[in-house]
Amino acid sequence: MLHQFGSHEWDYAIQQPIPIIPLPQEMTLGEGHFELNKQTKWVIDPEVSDMRVLTKLFNETIQQARGFELAVDTDKNASNRIVLSVDSASKMNPEGYELKVSKEQISIHASHAAGLFYGWQTLRQLLPVEFEQSSQMDSTSWVIPCVEIKDEPRFSYRGMHLDVARHFFSVDEVKRYLDAMAMHKFNTFHWHLTEDQGWRIEIKQYPKLTEIGAFRKETLIGHANDAPEKFDGKRYGGYYTQEDIKEVVAYAKERFIEVIPEIEMPGHSQAALAAYPELACTEGPFEVATKWGIFEEVYCPTETTFTFLENVLTEVIELFPSTYIHIGGDECPKIRWKKSAFCQQLMKEQGLKNEQELQSYFIKRIEAFLNKNQKQLIGWDEILEGGLSPNATVMSWRGTKGGIEAAEQGHDVIMTPTSHCYFDYYQSDGKEEPLAIGGYTPLKKVYHFEPIPKELDKEAHKHILGAQCNLWTEYIPTIDHLFYMAYPRASALSEVLWSDPAQRDYNSFLSRLNTHLIRLQNNEINTANHIYEIKLSTNQAPNNKGVQVALHTESDAPALHMTLDGTDPNMMSNTYTYPFTVYENATLKMAPFIESKQVGDIQEVKMYIHKAAGRAIELTTPPHEKYSFGGKQALVNGILGNQNRYGDAEWLGWWGEDFEAVIDLGSVQKLKYIHLFFFNGPTQWIYLPSKIEYWLSTDGENYKLEGTITDISSTTKVAFIENLLDYEEAQYVKIKATNFGKIPEGKQGAGYDAWLFVDEIIIE
Ligand code: ACM
Repeated sequence: MLHQFGSHEWDYAIQQPIPIIPLPQEMTLGEGHFELNKQTKWVIDPEVSDMRVLTKLFNETIQQARGFELAVDTDKNASNRIVLSVDSASKMNPEGYELKVSKEQISIHASHAAGLFYGWQTLRQLLPVEFEQSSQMDSTSWVIPCVEIKDEPRFSYRGMHLDVARHFFSVDEVKRYLDAMAMHKFNTFHWHLTEDQGWRIEIKQYPKLTEIGAFRKETLIGHANDAPEKFDGKRYGGYYTQEDIKEVVAYAKERFIEVIPEIEMPGHSQAALAAYPELACTEGPFEVATKWGIFEEVYCPTETTFTFLENVLTEVIELFPSTYIHIGGDECPKIRWKKSAFCQQLMKEQGLKNEQELQSYFIKRIEAFLNKNQKQLIGWDEILEGGLSPNATVMSWRGTKGGIEAAEQGHDVIMTPTSHCYFDYYQSDGKEEPLAIGGYTPLKKVYHFEPIPKELDKEAHKHILGAQCNLWTEYIPTIDHLFYMAYPRASALSEVLWSDPAQRDYNSFLSRLNTHLIRLQNNEINTANHIYEIKLSTNQAPNNKGVQVALHTESDAPALHMTLDGTDPNMMSNTYTYPFTVYENATLKMAPFIESKQVGDIQEVKMYIHKAAGRAIELTTPPHEKYSFGGKQALVNGILGNQNRYGDAEWLGWWGEDFEAVIDLGSVQKLKYIHLFFFNGPTQWIYLPSKIEYWLSTDGENYKLEGTITDISSTTKVAFIENLLDYEEAQYVKIKATNFGKIPEGKQGAGYDAWLFVDEIIIE
């Protein structure tokens, strides 16, 4: 809650709301400010070694930003001091802190060092954004508003995951990832170290894991669904030595981040099998995977395999002081186990009914080993199948259902559903987005994530330890790309996990984010800036001529400048104020500016004003709610949808249903053709229609069938279907596209209804 007191005669401008992310639990704004300068000193209790370490760390940030450090002192009562104090007997949350800024002093008080650390992260964000802007001319003092903050986290588990197997990130890059996490008060780093495509951790007893398993001969180019497959022909790989691992774990610990390693089993293990084929159910040889997906070769549950895994885990346990070890457990095909005489015999001996129970047997044995070594097991929610191990913690990724089930059984849960927490998904439907795995998880959706499902019994709430975002890196080859996918979505998640849900307010978040993005960029975090991305919506124009266009950005901070003649907009171009009408073909170019700085990409939209553009359209069956956000007018707005992806506002989708529309051209006209566009994506269950029919009418009552098309096919992602007319007169055009029906055997989604995706209907 932001309280204000006193009258405000500011001698400088304090930005409101104060741009702190995640939002503190309680904040009271005072009057006046503290001035930080080179003479400001830390006051610590020299007996507390944590404090010496912390001030060294805080000084590193100041040194890096401004090129000086603050001296350390013990005089609590002097002015121009930042006083750190710890009361270990206090009942404060161990991660909580109290931060007071008065004109004379700043104090950070906590019950543990972690609280001091988070207090400092907040103080960093109270400093003007220029403080960490190296290009800023040197100033001699920095103003911090007088404020009192009492803060503590809502959840104890605040995680970020990183897959270093699909693409490898160096120790220095991992440290940068940890630094950004620390700024947002995340406290858990889930390090996904082994995969089909690479084994990334040195294990002394099994050197081939990294000699062979850490390198693949080449890598798939483009999306896994693209046909034909193409590869880059370049050897790729890398791994962390045990010394590297220790360095990362120590670096994280200084920042109050626990590192949880993931060693995948029984699936996603092809790189290990390439090194040690005797661990598989079939003979091999195997190679480290070069493309993305799920692979059939998995560990066979033999004694050889268990001995191997226990030896590997013994070295892993030595390296990671974490409470938990993550053992994967997701996406393990059972084909090899079904065909293996050994597995079938083992199932008989152990009284296991099916391969799910065999997987459960596998995980339970590993759990027993971990528990014997004072470690707790975490696994993806598949570990529920066939019976959960007695003490396991479940990471719920396929929605929240698995998490609910586990929590109701009394197990701890970490929420990481694909719907809100997969930051490898697209965050925008913009044409310029880099290739991603799929999906659509924009910032706003992440911000509105609630880790405790409504349907969960109250007594089980305590089992939801928190949540985590996942960064799978099939399509994320570099650290800049990684930051782009992670931020600011992780900033939103940090607020979900730390702050009071009663104060959650997306508009407040957006206005704080304007400053926060600059802060992150000052720290070389390559943020996405979709809050400044210009979205266009269209409507029927009031006078039945042309198409009405409205522009919108999530953040209202920027001014939108635009042109209609194809030239790049600048500060001098027209400023958007109200919806406007486009009467003729045009290339609309738009860009967002804040204080003369362009803060987002130029967006370009070509508009083709055909006879149906901007006219009334009625649909017999509305599109599926998941693919309807552009509205029916998107079908006749003169704008073509993305030719590679179906997720944007232009494409509307019907699932198992037919498409039927009537367009009213406003007056009787002579017509030359109808052009129709359909998305063609069988691997994503999207099929072309089996039949297209169209009718014309002059009165809207009597329709004449003008054509029927069958045998519809396309070699491109978007099928263009042309229907010639012979200058017939009509005011009303009716079009029906019959859904393909059930997806045939042998195809992805076989037996399910097909999707039908439609975009522009061009009539001339
Ligand atoms: C997962 O995304 N396979 C856990």
